[in-house]
Amino acid sequence: MIDLESLGGIVDDADSVTAVVTAAMSRTEDPRLKQIVDALVKHAHAFFKEVRLTDQEFEQGIEFVKSIGEACRDDHNEAVLCADVLGFSTLVTLLNNSGSNGRTPGALLGPFYRGASPAHANGENIACEGSPGTPLFVRGRVLDTSRQPVVNAMVDVWQASPVGMYENQDPDQPDMNLRGRFHTDAQGHFAFRTVRPAGYPVPTDGPVGVLLAKQQRHPYRPAHLHFVVIAEGHETLVSQVFADDSEYLGSDVVFGVNRSLIGSFERHEDGAAPDATVQGPYYTLDYDFVIAKGTPTYPTPPIK
Ligand code: BEZ
Ligand code: FE
Repeated sequence: MIDLESLGGIVDDADSVTAVVTAAMSRTEDPRLKQIVDALVKHAHAFFKEVRLTDQEFEQGIEFVKSIGEACRDDHNEAVLCADVLGFSTLVTLLNNSGSNGRTPGALLGPFYRGASPAHANGENIACEGSPGTPLFVRGRVLDTSRQPVVNAMVDVWQASPVGMYENQDPDQPDMNLRGRFHTDAQGHFAFRTVRPAGYPVPTDGPVGVLLAKQQRHPYRPAHLHFVVIAEGHETLVSQVFADDSEYLGSDVVFGVNRSLIGSFERHEDGAAPDATVQGPYYTLDYDFVIAKGTPTYPTPPIK
């Protein structure tokens, strides 16, 4: 006859599940993995209890996760989008860099980072020949927290078009339009020309769009430029700079706006643009990035 009392892994009621599952995972060798999965189980179990999740709701939740996976393609990452609209991405970003010691705060990478963007010399245009839109001249420096220039830092930039679409979403834009990488000079300066981006709705044709609609949330982001700054001997900065006159600054659907990331997009009606071929109105943006000493990391592009 089996001694039932000695069978520690049997679960007879809801209150004993967490301890039994935690014990089953106790031989996890990697201490960080153990810490993370133990905490995940603890908090997820507490959440199911708090909302007293029904069987049908649990099935719906599993279906939702499955549909997120099914919506992912080489050129679209619904998993990143879901993490973004739930504030997960912004929380993790700010846990790791909220801008202390004068650093530029981080902002979420988002689902449209492709990496391997075209290399440019400072001052060059990331908008392809004939790209519609008001010219925007961006200038800045990369500095360390002692305000010393960081030389040869790579500044990788990507942005939506003046109609609010990334090139990979838009058949009217050539591959890699409005994406480029620059390197800072001996004084830490970088500069490039582009066209002013518009705010845009995040993709709503998948399960995340269904969730946003049920929550009665608009899908818009304020106009912004994305930056990844990578320099030897420094922590990588993933951030965004927002247009100060943009709609939705106070209601970004993915919670990316931080007051210190609002840049002054100055409009000039005419007169001497940094590129003499530009006639008529143009914008300028001056923005310095401050990065901390440390070890660079290389963000994984969520799409190809
Ligand atoms: C973006 O800024 O590229 C972005 C961020 C989150 C969701 C969708 C787009
Ligand atoms: Fe964006």
